[in-house]
Amino acid sequence: MITEIQIDAAIRKMFDEMSFKAEPAGLYDPLRYMIAIGGKRIRPRLCLLAYSLFKDELGEEILEPASALEVFHTFTLIHDDIMDKSALRRGQATVWTRWNDDTAILSGDVMCIDSYRRMAAAPAPVLGKVLGLFNLTAAQVCEGQQYDMDFEDMDRVPMSEYMKMIGLKTAVLIACSAKTGAIIGGASARDAGLLYDYGYKLGLAFQIADDWLDAYGDEKVFGKPIGGDIVNNKKCWLTTYAQEKLEGTAEGEELGRAMKMPVTTAEERARKIAAVRKIYELTGAGDAAREEIERLTGEALSAVAGIGLPKIRFEMLRRYADSLVGRTR
Ligand code: IPE
Ligand code: IPE
Ligand code: MG
Ligand code: MG
Ligand code: MG
Repeated sequence: MITEIQIDAAIRKMFDEMSFKAEPAGLYDPLRYMIAIGGKRIRPRLCLLAYSLFKDELGEEILEPASALEVFHTFTLIHDDIMDKSALRRGQATVWTRWNDDTAILSGDVMCIDSYRRMAAAPAPVLGKVLGLFNLTAAQVCEGQQYDMDFEDMDRVPMSEYMKMIGLKTAVLIACSAKTGAIIGGASARDAGLLYDYGYKLGLAFQIADDWLDAYGDEKVFGKPIGGDIVNNKKCWLTTYAQEKLEGTAEGEELGRAMKMPVTTAEERARKIAAVRKIYELTGAGDAAREEIERLTGEALSAVAGIGLPKIRFEMLRRYADSLVGRTR
């Protein structure tokens, strides 16, 4: 049986040994930089975990596709940080601030292409299926990112629309990670589908936790600027919940005004964050978010309960889910 220790070791080796072309350095240095500062690497980990449910040994066949998921994810972060005007990522300067926008665009592009090269190394018998899923997922992430930006200009967004948006920008890639591991591991179509559902529900919970941390996290641990979503007038889970709860009330109007406060100075930034957070607290949005994360995690585990795995393997999926729910970074 493949253990979590083996999976962690394989991930470490994968990224320690990852290399990109030397020249032109201006193109590839940002890729080296982002991979070296590393992230939580939850997507390749989930891919290897799903694979290990159906295999007894970690074959070479899964390593490149698993790495593709992280490389693709990292590319989306490079572009996302330009779009969100975010200066900090993984506790370090973002690519667009350390270099410039043009570099972040082009290095992001070549990183996306590199992820396709890696995914194309999937075993021939399942290559069509794996690449088809990856193509679909990559387009969906762009769709989600577009909705995320469109929502910045809207006064309010229904919770159902918010959930659809995070399903696209975040959950589908986590779902794809699980399903890719399952497909390459030889799972039946039904089991691969259930693992997709597990990843999707966990992905929704993961993004709600990200939204919560954006308002309440510890910047040193989270590695991203706290309050960025509020400053950008993002429709995060907390805003969406508070707006639904306060619809038609004076506090609802106040939230609307607070979200439109312009920010040009550090003082204005702090004032806007405090004003919006005050209304979150009035509605209990923070606690409600934690409950929603727990609920979605329960649904993720219910989905994979249908596979009928031996207990020892199911517990791996439970521990993975718990590690996402309890995250602080
Ligand atoms: C950040 O993803 C973007 C979201 C989908 C919320 P991660 O939280 O997985 O970022 P890293 O890779 O660990 O830095
Ligand atoms: C990110 O959402 C989703 C993608 C990068 C596709 P966020 O904008 O919330 O991610 P962070 O908070 O910058 O990591
Ligand atoms: Mg974003
Ligand atoms: Mg962002
Ligand atoms: Mg975020």
